[in-house]
Amino acid sequence: MKGRILSGFRSTGKLHLGNLVGALQNWVKLQDEYECFFEIANWHALTTAYENTKDQKELIQEVAIDWIASGLDPERSTIFVQSDVPEHSELYLLLGMVIPLPWLERNPTLKEQVRDLNLQGKVNYGLLGYPVLQAADILIYRATTVPVGEDQVPHLELTREIARRFNSLYGKVFPEPKPLLTQFPKVKGTDGKKMSKSLNNNILLSDPPEVLKKKVMKSYTDPKKIHKNDPGRPEQCPIYEYHTIFNTNESPTVRRDCKRGHIGCVECKENLYPHLQEGLIPYREKREDLKKNPQKLEEILQEGGKRARKIAQETMTMVRDAMHLWN
Ligand code: TRP
Ligand code: SF4
Repeated sequence: MKGRILSGFRSTGKLHLGNLVGALQNWVKLQDEYECFFEIANWHALTTAYENTKDQKELIQEVAIDWIASGLDPERSTIFVQSDVPEHSELYLLLGMVIPLPWLERNPTLKEQVRDLNLQGKVNYGLLGYPVLQAADILIYRATTVPVGEDQVPHLELTREIARRFNSLYGKVFPEPKPLLTQFPKVKGTDGKKMSKSLNNNILLSDPPEVLKKKVMKSYTDPKKIHKNDPGRPEQCPIYEYHTIFNTNESPTVRRDCKRGHIGCVECKENLYPHLQEGLIPYREKREDLKKNPQKLEEILQEGGKRARKIAQETMTMVRDAMHLWN
Protein backbone atom coordinates (compact mmCIF):
# COMPACT_ATOMS: atom_id res chain seq x y z
CA MET A 1 0.00 0.00 0.00
CA LYS A 2 1.11 3.52 -0.77
CA GLY A 3 1.96 5.68 2.20
CA ARG A 4 -0.05 8.82 2.74
CA ILE A 5 1.46 12.28 2.83
CA LEU A 6 0.16 15.43 4.35
CA SER A 7 2.04 18.68 4.23
CA GLY A 8 1.17 22.32 3.99
CA PHE A 9 2.06 25.97 3.99
CA ARG A 10 0.43 28.79 5.82
CA SER A 11 -1.47 31.13 3.53
CA THR A 12 1.09 33.90 3.37
CA GLY A 13 0.91 34.65 -0.36
CA LYS A 14 3.31 34.28 -3.24
CA LEU A 15 6.08 31.72 -3.04
CA HIS A 16 9.81 32.29 -3.44
CA LEU A 17 12.71 30.21 -4.72
CA GLY A 18 13.38 28.86 -1.24
CA ASN A 19 9.88 27.37 -1.17
CA LEU A 20 10.33 25.97 -4.66
CA VAL A 21 13.68 24.30 -4.15
CA GLY A 22 13.28 23.47 -0.47
CA ALA A 23 9.79 22.01 -0.60
CA LEU A 24 7.75 22.10 -3.77
CA GLN A 25 10.11 20.36 -6.16
CA ASN A 26 10.30 17.58 -3.63
CA TRP A 27 6.51 17.39 -3.22
CA VAL A 28 6.08 17.23 -6.98
CA LYS A 29 8.20 14.08 -7.09
CA LEU A 30 6.48 12.51 -4.11
CA GLN A 31 3.17 12.57 -5.96
CA ASP A 32 4.20 9.40 -7.82
CA GLU A 33 5.03 7.42 -4.73
CA TYR A 34 2.42 8.53 -2.21
CA GLU A 35 -1.18 9.43 -1.86
CA CYS A 36 -0.77 13.16 -1.26
CA PHE A 37 -2.72 15.81 0.64
CA PHE A 38 -1.46 19.39 0.42
CA GLU A 39 -3.09 21.88 2.70
CA ILE A 40 -3.18 25.67 2.64
CA ALA A 41 -3.22 26.35 6.36
CA ASN A 42 -5.30 29.51 6.62
CA TRP A 43 -6.20 29.00 10.28
CA HIS A 44 -2.52 28.69 11.11
CA ALA A 45 -1.92 31.94 9.27
CA LEU A 46 -4.35 33.68 11.61
CA THR A 47 -2.25 32.82 14.67
CA THR A 48 -0.08 35.78 13.73
CA ALA A 49 -2.09 37.59 11.01
CA TYR A 50 -5.31 37.96 13.00
CA GLU A 51 -5.34 41.71 12.45
CA ASN A 52 -5.39 41.45 8.64
CA THR A 53 -7.98 38.78 8.09
CA LYS A 54 -9.44 40.42 5.01
CA ASP A 55 -6.27 39.69 3.01
CA GLN A 56 -6.70 35.96 3.48
CA LYS A 57 -8.71 35.16 0.39
CA GLU A 58 -6.11 36.58 -1.94
CA LEU A 59 -3.19 35.09 -0.01
CA ILE A 60 -4.78 31.64 -0.22
CA GLN A 61 -5.26 31.99 -3.98
CA GLU A 62 -1.66 33.05 -4.51
CA VAL A 63 -0.38 29.97 -2.69
CA ALA A 64 -2.68 27.70 -4.68
CA ILE A 65 -1.62 29.28 -7.97
CA ASP A 66 2.09 28.92 -7.19
CA TRP A 67 1.61 25.31 -6.07
CA ILE A 68 -0.13 24.28 -9.24
CA ALA A 69 2.26 26.31 -11.39
CA SER A 70 5.12 24.40 -9.74
CA GLY A 71 3.67 21.04 -10.71
CA LEU A 72 1.36 19.93 -7.93
CA ASP A 73 -1.27 18.08 -9.86
CA PRO A 74 -4.85 18.43 -8.64
CA GLU A 75 -5.77 15.20 -10.44
CA ARG A 76 -3.32 13.10 -8.49
CA SER A 77 -3.02 15.10 -5.27
CA THR A 78 -5.63 16.58 -3.00
CA ILE A 79 -5.02 20.31 -2.77
CA PHE A 80 -7.28 22.02 -0.26
CA VAL A 81 -7.85 24.87 2.13
CA GLN A 82 -7.77 23.98 5.82
CA SER A 83 -10.94 25.84 6.77
CA ASP A 84 -12.91 23.97 4.09
CA VAL A 85 -12.54 20.92 6.33
CA PRO A 86 -14.13 22.01 9.61
CA GLU A 87 -13.41 18.57 11.13
CA HIS A 88 -9.84 19.79 11.74
CA SER A 89 -11.20 22.13 14.37
CA GLU A 90 -13.11 19.37 16.16
CA LEU A 91 -10.06 17.13 16.32
CA TYR A 92 -7.96 20.12 17.42
CA LEU A 93 -10.36 20.67 20.30
CA LEU A 94 -10.32 17.03 21.37
CA LEU A 95 -6.54 16.77 21.13
CA GLY A 96 -6.40 19.85 23.33
CA MET A 97 -7.73 17.68 26.16
CA VAL A 98 -4.92 15.13 26.02
CA ILE A 99 -1.92 17.38 25.60
CA PRO A 100 -0.17 18.58 28.75
CA LEU A 101 0.46 22.32 28.75
CA PRO A 102 4.22 22.05 29.36
CA TRP A 103 4.61 20.24 26.02
CA LEU A 104 3.40 23.40 24.33
CA GLU A 105 5.26 25.84 26.53
CA ARG A 106 8.62 24.24 25.80
CA ASN A 107 8.05 24.23 22.02
CA PRO A 108 11.32 25.61 20.57
CA THR A 109 9.58 26.98 17.46
CA LEU A 110 7.34 29.10 19.69
CA LYS A 111 10.33 30.36 21.66
CA GLU A 112 12.03 31.35 18.43
CA GLN A 113 8.93 33.17 17.22
CA VAL A 114 8.57 35.04 20.48
CA ARG A 115 12.15 36.19 20.10
CA ASP A 116 11.95 37.07 16.39
CA LEU A 117 8.57 38.82 16.49
CA ASN A 118 9.05 40.43 19.91
CA LEU A 119 6.05 38.69 21.41
CA GLN A 120 7.25 38.54 25.02
CA GLY A 121 4.12 38.56 27.18
CA LYS A 122 1.88 38.81 24.10
CA VAL A 123 1.47 35.18 23.00
CA ASN A 124 -2.15 34.51 22.18
CA TYR A 125 -3.84 31.21 22.90
CA GLY A 126 -4.00 30.33 19.18
CA LEU A 127 -0.26 30.63 18.78
CA LEU A 128 0.39 28.45 21.82
CA GLY A 129 -1.96 25.89 20.32
CA TYR A 130 -0.37 26.08 16.86
CA PRO A 131 1.27 22.63 17.08
CA VAL A 132 -1.98 21.05 18.30
CA LEU A 133 -3.75 22.35 15.22
CA GLN A 134 -0.87 21.10 13.09
CA ALA A 135 -1.14 17.68 14.77
CA ALA A 136 -4.85 17.66 13.96
CA ASP A 137 -4.03 18.51 10.31
CA ILE A 138 -1.77 15.51 10.05
CA LEU A 139 -3.61 12.97 12.19
CA ILE A 140 -7.02 13.60 10.68
CA TYR A 141 -5.71 12.12 7.40
CA ARG A 142 -3.94 9.33 9.30
CA ALA A 143 -0.87 10.41 7.33
CA THR A 144 2.22 8.22 7.52
CA THR A 145 4.68 10.73 6.17
CA VAL A 146 5.15 14.47 6.44
CA PRO A 147 7.69 16.15 4.16
CA VAL A 148 8.94 19.22 6.01
CA GLY A 149 12.01 21.34 6.57
CA GLU A 150 14.24 21.11 9.66
CA ASP A 151 12.37 23.94 11.35
CA GLN A 152 9.19 21.85 11.54
CA VAL A 153 10.79 18.81 13.20
CA PRO A 154 9.82 19.86 16.76
CA HIS A 155 6.20 20.23 15.63
CA LEU A 156 6.27 16.78 14.13
CA GLU A 157 7.77 15.29 17.25
CA LEU A 158 4.90 16.80 19.19
CA THR A 159 2.43 15.32 16.70
CA ARG A 160 3.93 11.89 17.32
CA GLU A 161 3.73 12.35 21.08
CA ILE A 162 0.09 13.40 20.81
CA ALA A 163 -0.69 10.39 18.60
CA ARG A 164 0.98 8.05 21.09
CA ARG A 165 -0.88 9.57 23.98
CA PHE A 166 -4.23 9.41 22.21
CA ASN A 167 -3.66 5.81 21.12
CA SER A 168 -2.66 4.69 24.60
CA LEU A 169 -5.68 6.37 26.19
CA TYR A 170 -8.36 5.30 23.73
CA GLY A 171 -6.96 2.59 21.48
CA LYS A 172 -5.03 2.83 18.27
CA VAL A 173 -6.52 5.25 15.77
CA PHE A 174 -3.51 7.15 14.50
CA PRO A 175 -0.31 6.01 12.84
CA GLU A 176 2.75 7.86 14.12
CA PRO A 177 3.71 10.04 11.18
CA LYS A 178 7.36 10.30 10.20
CA PRO A 179 9.06 13.44 8.94
CA LEU A 180 10.61 13.26 5.51
CA LEU A 181 13.38 15.83 5.48
CA THR A 182 14.38 17.53 2.27
CA GLN A 183 18.10 17.17 1.70
CA PHE A 184 18.21 20.54 0.04
CA PRO A 185 19.77 23.14 2.33
CA LYS A 186 18.05 26.49 2.76
CA VAL A 187 18.34 28.70 -0.29
CA LYS A 188 20.17 31.96 0.33
CA GLY A 189 18.34 35.23 -0.11
CA THR A 190 19.72 38.17 -2.04
CA ASP A 191 21.22 39.51 1.20
CA GLY A 192 23.16 36.29 1.85
CA LYS A 193 20.88 35.23 4.73
CA LYS A 194 18.29 32.49 4.48
CA MET A 195 15.63 33.37 1.89
CA SER A 196 12.44 34.26 3.68
CA LYS A 197 9.01 35.67 3.15
CA SER A 198 9.36 38.31 5.83
CA LEU A 199 12.90 39.49 5.09
CA ASN A 200 13.14 41.62 2.02
CA ASN A 201 15.54 39.20 0.38
CA ASN A 202 13.44 36.87 -1.72
CA ILE A 203 13.03 36.11 -5.38
CA LEU A 204 9.43 35.24 -6.16
CA LEU A 205 8.32 32.70 -8.75
CA SER A 206 6.07 35.43 -10.06
CA ASP A 207 8.65 38.22 -10.30
CA PRO A 208 8.52 39.84 -13.76
CA PRO A 209 11.82 40.14 -15.70
CA GLU A 210 12.56 43.78 -14.73
CA VAL A 211 12.16 42.99 -11.05
CA LEU A 212 14.25 39.84 -11.36
CA LYS A 213 17.03 41.74 -13.02
CA LYS A 214 17.08 44.40 -10.31
CA LYS A 215 17.13 41.82 -7.57
CA VAL A 216 20.03 39.98 -9.20
CA MET A 217 22.10 43.08 -9.88
CA LYS A 218 21.61 44.38 -6.33
CA SER A 219 22.29 41.04 -4.69
CA TYR A 220 24.88 40.50 -2.03
CA THR A 221 28.08 38.73 -3.14
CA ASP A 222 31.28 37.78 -1.34
CA PRO A 223 32.18 41.07 0.40
CA LYS A 224 35.91 40.25 0.20
CA LYS A 225 35.78 40.18 -3.57
CA ILE A 226 36.00 43.86 -4.39
CA HIS A 227 37.92 43.90 -7.66
CA LYS A 228 37.40 41.64 -10.58
CA ASN A 229 40.73 39.91 -9.97
CA ASP A 230 40.22 39.27 -6.27
CA PRO A 231 39.62 35.60 -5.57
CA GLY A 232 36.07 35.01 -4.29
CA ARG A 233 34.32 32.47 -2.08
CA PRO A 234 31.39 31.09 -4.07
CA GLU A 235 30.08 29.08 -1.11
CA GLN A 236 29.23 32.36 0.59
CA CYS A 237 27.54 33.90 -2.40
CA PRO A 238 23.84 33.64 -3.29
CA ILE A 239 24.62 34.33 -6.95
CA TYR A 240 26.73 31.20 -7.11
CA GLU A 241 23.94 29.26 -5.48
CA TYR A 242 21.47 30.47 -8.11
CA HIS A 243 23.95 29.38 -10.80
CA THR A 244 23.92 25.87 -9.33
CA ILE A 245 20.12 25.80 -9.55
CA PHE A 246 19.40 27.60 -12.83
CA ASN A 247 22.67 27.32 -14.72
CA THR A 248 23.71 23.88 -13.58
CA ASN A 249 25.99 23.06 -16.50
CA GLU A 250 28.15 26.14 -16.18
CA SER A 251 28.18 26.36 -12.40
CA PRO A 252 31.50 24.44 -11.99
CA THR A 253 33.13 26.98 -14.31
CA VAL A 254 31.59 29.87 -12.37
CA ARG A 255 32.95 28.39 -9.20
CA ARG A 256 36.44 27.98 -10.60
CA ASP A 257 36.57 31.41 -12.22
CA CYS A 258 35.30 33.05 -9.05
CA LYS A 259 37.92 31.34 -6.89
CA ARG A 260 40.70 32.23 -9.28
CA GLY A 261 39.59 35.82 -9.68
CA HIS A 262 38.94 35.34 -13.39
CA ILE A 263 35.48 36.85 -13.31
CA GLY A 264 33.95 39.93 -11.69
CA CYS A 265 30.70 39.92 -9.78
CA VAL A 266 28.88 42.21 -12.21
CA GLU A 267 29.72 39.94 -15.10
CA CYS A 268 28.82 36.89 -13.04
CA LYS A 269 25.40 38.38 -12.29
CA GLU A 270 24.84 39.33 -15.91
CA ASN A 271 25.62 35.74 -16.89
CA LEU A 272 23.17 34.41 -14.36
CA TYR A 273 20.24 36.64 -15.22
CA PRO A 274 19.12 35.06 -18.53
CA HIS A 275 19.23 31.58 -17.02
CA LEU A 276 17.16 32.62 -14.05
CA GLN A 277 14.77 34.57 -16.27
CA GLU A 278 14.30 31.61 -18.63
CA GLY A 279 14.09 29.13 -15.80
CA LEU A 280 11.14 30.98 -14.34
CA ILE A 281 9.19 31.44 -17.60
CA PRO A 282 7.23 28.18 -17.33
CA TYR A 283 6.10 29.05 -13.80
CA ARG A 284 5.11 32.54 -14.81
CA GLU A 285 3.15 31.30 -17.83
CA LYS A 286 1.25 28.71 -15.89
CA ARG A 287 0.57 31.29 -13.22
CA GLU A 288 -0.91 33.66 -15.73
CA ASP A 289 -3.16 30.94 -17.15
CA LEU A 290 -4.54 30.25 -13.72
CA LYS A 291 -4.94 33.93 -12.92
CA LYS A 292 -7.08 34.30 -16.03
CA ASN A 293 -9.32 31.48 -14.92
CA PRO A 294 -10.29 32.04 -11.28
CA GLN A 295 -13.30 29.78 -11.75
CA LYS A 296 -11.05 26.82 -12.46
CA LEU A 297 -8.91 27.51 -9.42
CA GLU A 298 -12.03 27.75 -7.30
CA GLU A 299 -13.19 24.37 -8.61
CA ILE A 300 -9.85 22.72 -7.89
CA LEU A 301 -9.92 23.91 -4.29
CA GLN A 302 -13.55 22.94 -3.81
CA GLU A 303 -12.97 19.49 -5.21
CA GLY A 304 -9.86 19.10 -3.03
CA GLY A 305 -11.85 20.20 0.00
CA LYS A 306 -14.50 17.57 -0.72
CA ARG A 307 -11.99 14.77 -1.09
CA ALA A 308 -10.14 15.80 2.05
CA ARG A 309 -13.35 16.14 4.01
CA LYS A 310 -14.43 12.61 3.21
CA ILE A 311 -11.33 11.16 4.88
CA ALA A 312 -11.51 13.67 7.72
CA GLN A 313 -15.09 12.64 8.45
CA GLU A 314 -14.12 8.98 8.49
CA THR A 315 -11.36 9.68 10.95
CA MET A 316 -13.64 11.71 13.20
CA THR A 317 -16.06 8.79 13.36
CA MET A 318 -13.16 6.57 14.42
CA VAL A 319 -12.06 9.14 16.99
CA ARG A 320 -15.52 9.53 18.55
CA ASP A 321 -15.92 5.75 18.59
CA ALA A 322 -12.60 5.25 20.30
CA MET A 323 -13.47 7.89 22.88
CA HIS A 324 -17.01 6.54 23.31
CA LEU A 325 -18.43 9.91 22.42
CA TRP A 326 -21.60 10.64 20.52
CA ASN A 327 -21.56 9.20 17.03
N1 TRP B 1 3.63 24.92 10.27
C1 TRP B 1 3.89 24.76 8.86
C2 TRP B 1 4.79 25.89 8.38
O1 TRP B 1 4.87 26.93 9.00
C3 TRP B 1 2.61 24.77 8.06
C4 TRP B 1 1.71 23.60 8.38
C5 TRP B 1 0.48 23.67 8.91
C6 TRP B 1 2.03 22.24 8.18
N2 TRP B 1 -0.03 22.43 9.05
C7 TRP B 1 0.88 21.51 8.63
C8 TRP B 1 3.15 21.54 7.69
C9 TRP B 1 0.87 20.13 8.62
C10 TRP B 1 3.12 20.15 7.67
C11 TRP B 1 1.99 19.45 8.14
O2 TRP B 1 5.42 25.76 7.36
FE1 SF4 C 1 29.53 35.48 -6.33
FE2 SF4 C 1 30.06 35.31 -8.89
FE3 SF4 C 1 31.08 37.31 -7.41
FE4 SF4 C 1 31.94 34.84 -7.13
S1 SF4 C 1 32.12 36.08 -8.94
S2 SF4 C 1 31.43 36.26 -5.48
S3 SF4 C 1 30.09 33.65 -7.45
S4 SF4 C 1 28.93 36.95 -7.87
